[in-house]
Amino acid sequence: MKLLLGIPGGIAAYKAADLARLLTREGHTVRCVLTEAGSRFITPLTLASLTGEPVFGANPALPEWRPSPTVEHIELARWADLVAIVPATADLLGKTANGLANDLLSTILLATKAPILWAPAMNTQMWAHPAVQGNVARLNGFGQAFIEPAEGLLACGEEGSGKLAEVEAIAEAIRALGALKLPAIQEKTVLVTAGPTREDLDPVRTLTNRSSGSMGVELARALRDAGAKVKLVLGGDLPAPHGVETVRVRSAEEMLRACQAWWPSCDGIFAAAAVADQRPERMAAEKVKKTEGPETLSLIRTPDILATLSASKHPGQWLVGFAAESEHHTDHAQAKLAKKGLDAVLVNDVQAGRGFGAVENTLTPITAEGPLAPLGPHPKDQLARAVVAWWAAQQH
Ligand code: C5P
Repeated sequence: MKLLLGIPGGIAAYKAADLARLLTREGHTVRCVLTEAGSRFITPLTLASLTGEPVFGANPALPEWRPSPTVEHIELARWADLVAIVPATADLLGKTANGLANDLLSTILLATKAPILWAPAMNTQMWAHPAVQGNVARLNGFGQAFIEPAEGLLACGEEGSGKLAEVEAIAEAIRALGALKLPAIQEKTVLVTAGPTREDLDPVRTLTNRSSGSMGVELARALRDAGAKVKLVLGGDLPAPHGVETVRVRSAEEMLRACQAWWPSCDGIFAAAAVADQRPERMAAEKVKKTEGPETLSLIRTPDILATLSASKHPGQWLVGFAAESEHHTDHAQAKLAKKGLDAVLVNDVQAGRGFGAVENTLTPITAEGPLAPLGPHPKDQLARAVVAWWAAQQH
């Protein structure tokens, strides 16, 4: 991706250098544009050294600034796949929201057709000021994206909202906005379930499983990056991915209710959640006391979420399930396909430490035609992209 990183004058400008380094290492081409004030906080030499690219600015007196015989703001505005402003200042937000442009960065912001992401950082009162919030709303209305500032101790000594979002979170938002769209996935609404469920025995004890939820969360990210509107029903403790509408659930029944609420408006589902098959027959309101002698836990079946959604699907809706099998993968998966009325099952071989919690994973897609070529082994983020690309190819 060709990323244009705009850096106006704010104390958090030094963090933009870290972001530039991170994205350059990921293989993106990062070109920085500094405002006059930005260049007082961080030098063009730092950014040029980290990115290996020339740095652009209002006053190209130093060798790192590229001498430009062309109409630079238009060239850069066309060059960028994405423009990110880190840290977004009240001044630059205000200028852009009102169509003002008096230096290289502000002119690029009006001239570009690329998506724009703002990562604001400023004093709490400034951020909360209705004038600033009005400008943010106006820019939002133009389709520009924001990554909200975090809460914390600010450089001015105040505590509150206004701290620049974490560099990794900004990188994540950039990836989300600038990723390659897949036409078969773009504009589709896709439901994803992820993570373990937790079935409570009493206020302190719970039945759960060892799924982290990372495969489902990576799938949600990959679908989002491919252009889908993603709705994620998430169990477990992983953070919700940026740009994905997420509802957090605990039990299988909560997961079912959340899925049922969204399912009618979705084009399809990837059910990656490790749903508990049983739950305690009753949840005790108070912590259960130890007793002498053997104790029996009475379990009942949880609802099958995927089968329930499948039974109520409308024409055109598709369902992709997952199966974690340690033996006879194909036979079990094929039985599951038929029993739950699925379009595909992605089989995870959980033998010998693969699957749950492992870094690299392989998934074998099984459809009505039988098993297809395995996807992977890949780390889960790459595997999720491979799954989405495979599913997009199946839609033709
Ligand atoms: O039958 P089994 O649990 O192996 O099926 C796995 C698939 O079904 C997964 O896609 C899982 O998310 C889904 N599932 C479900 N509700 C359950 C159990 C599994 O949606 N109660």
